[in-house]
Amino acid sequence: MRIYKVGGAVRDRLLGIPVTDIDWVVVGATTEEMLAKGFRPVGADFPVFLHPKSGEEYALARTERKSGRGYGGFTFHASPEVTLEEDLIRRDLTINAMAEDDQQNLTDPYHGQRDLEARLLRHVSPAFAEDPLRVLRVARFAARYAALGFTVAPETLELMRQLSESGELEALTPERSWKEISRALMEDQPQVFIEVLRACGALKVLMPEVDALFGVPQPPAHHPEIDTGAHTLSVLQQAALYKQPLTVRWACLLHDLGKGLTPEEEWPRHIAHEFKGLKLIKAVNERFKAPRDCQELAMLVGEYHTHGHRALELKPSTLLELLQSFDVYRRPQRFEEFIAACEMDARGREGLEERSYPQADYLRGAATAARTVAVQPLLEKGFKGPELGEAIKRERLKALKAYKEQV
Ligand code: CTP
Repeated sequence: MRIYKVGGAVRDRLLGIPVTDIDWVVVGATTEEMLAKGFRPVGADFPVFLHPKSGEEYALARTERKSGRGYGGFTFHASPEVTLEEDLIRRDLTINAMAEDDQQNLTDPYHGQRDLEARLLRHVSPAFAEDPLRVLRVARFAARYAALGFTVAPETLELMRQLSESGELEALTPERSWKEISRALMEDQPQVFIEVLRACGALKVLMPEVDALFGVPQPPAHHPEIDTGAHTLSVLQQAALYKQPLTVRWACLLHDLGKGLTPEEEWPRHIAHEFKGLKLIKAVNERFKAPRDCQELAMLVGEYHTHGHRALELKPSTLLELLQSFDVYRRPQRFEEFIAACEMDARGREGLEERSYPQADYLRGAATAARTVAVQPLLEKGFKGPELGEAIKRERLKALKAYKEQV
């Protein structure tokens, strides 16, 4: 049997990027031989094994053929006769279809190295279309390697367009899609992921609510970039620049969905877009089964981001309602993430990226003021049940009035 390093490990070594995860392919072996060497079988789908010591993945060389819709619709063929070239040709991109032996000799039948140098994400063969998830993968790689100058080859973008139009993307499971989306959002240039999906028509299928924001104008006084889609991409870019967590990035992507619902005659104003967008945010959240913390923050940011921007003008009672809605007493971290999303929203505007955002500290101060209200003295005064709740609220309101006067 012959063993080769394949995929991302080869690609990233050639790019000079640290390799974290190594995949191996084994040519000329049978399942029985692998088991006899102590490899542990994993996954019911493919002949993949874990190395007894390193735990790294070793897959028998295989060919694949599509036999139905979606990821399950595959038949594969693994046998000692399958060659390395046959295994590599079923892979997604030329830069992912290179193999290396233990002497670092490269097997590169589909010119991955040439495409690495040309900074091109190019599909290996028409078999690319057999897994629609690859549309998202290519967009994610485009985001990851954008800083290195990579772009999607025109013929690959065309294939991605055909796949998007074919209805195949609908067959993806929420879990597989979310894995790609969440990884892409955590890249340094997550806006490129959305741009590439849009360029091939996949955004319209996967997130029509986000796609609908392009071409929708906003008032130039607050939004010099005017276009709501362009604004959303800038907000996402700021979130990456400021190393925000996934929750914040997800909320940034979805915060203005309501603007896509504004009737044209009301443009460029978007009255009550915060509230109108909530059902769209909920739909996107559920479509991809986003984790609960991402879902919650996206809904809260959608509803309250304008409150964040107007923080200094809010009446103490409105400020209190905001803090209560976030349950800032038990969930301080979530309120911090809300503030971060608002700040990214304020910075994601053309020419205003460097502006200061005094609302952030003001909101933090308000949360601290409300939190300092002690419950014990109220208990001692004999308040209980709903009356206690009301008394706490009154004290918090007092604290917020004092805070507002003092700032
Ligand atoms: N692969 C593929 N099509 C997919 C998934 C994976 O062709 N839908 C192939 C590619 O050759 C890829 C390899 O399997 O390089 C390993 O896949 P994976 O570990 O998911 O990705 P990497 O390329 O290693 O990239 P990353 O750094 O994002 O993990």
